Amino acid sequence: MAVDTRLTKTPHKTEKYTEDQLMELAKCANDPKYFMTEHCYIQHPTKGRMRFALFDYQRDLVDNYHNNRFSIAMLARQMGKSTAAAGYLLWYAMFHADQTILIAAHKYSGAQEIMQRIRFAYETLPDYIRAGVTAYNKGSLEFDNGSRIIHKQLLKIQDVVCLYHLLTWTSLHLLEER
Ligand SMILES: Nc1ncnc2c1ncn2[C@@H]1O[C@H](COP(=O)(O)OP(=O)(O)OP(=O)(O)O)[C@@H](O)[C@H]1O
Ligand SMILES: [Mg+2]
Repeated sequence: MAVDTRLTKTPHKTEKYTEDQLMELAKCANDPKYFMTEHCYIQHPTKGRMRFALFDYQRDLVDNYHNNRFSIAMLARQMGKSTAAAGYLLWYAMFHADQTILIAAHKYSGAQEIMQRIRFAYETLPDYIRAGVTAYNKGSLEFDNGSRIIHKQLLKIQDVVCLYHLLTWTSLHLLEER
């Protein structure tokens, strides 16, 4: 299935929206699950590119992220944790101005994996839904609303050196006991 979009959207562009597009944008801004199911694509290992139809437990996971200041989830492997986190972080960054979001993992590749899912979802969004990007690098994404998503390898909580608005830490059980 092909999606007719450019890789990224030019930042700070004056745009015209139709009334339907504005309504759709408002629905997305108000509801991360709606944004994900209606507009995000993911990559399935065997089916390839597909719409992100959230499983029920992924909906619960997103509600937990959204409604609580802190949340810890314990789930089995390959349940779609990274994909759900990626969808939520992308929504959060694009619909909240001036936020700094950190994706941390005990291994660089773990954090990179979430970033890769964010990129894929971003690149397949229609322009009227997504924010423009001012920087689009391997290590970070910066949007024209002033929000940015960065990822880092962090082995212990003491390594968090600055203040973040949102922090996602994968595989917490593998952190050093300190
Ligand atoms: N709602 C969904 N419908 C179909 N496929 C999905 C869904 N959510 C995630 N997937 C696919 O399932 C696979 C595993 O997802 P993901 O990597 O997010 O799982 P994970 O729980 O983070 O895995 P791990 O435990 O290895 O970190 C990915 O290929 C992803 O695209
Ligand atoms: Mg994962």
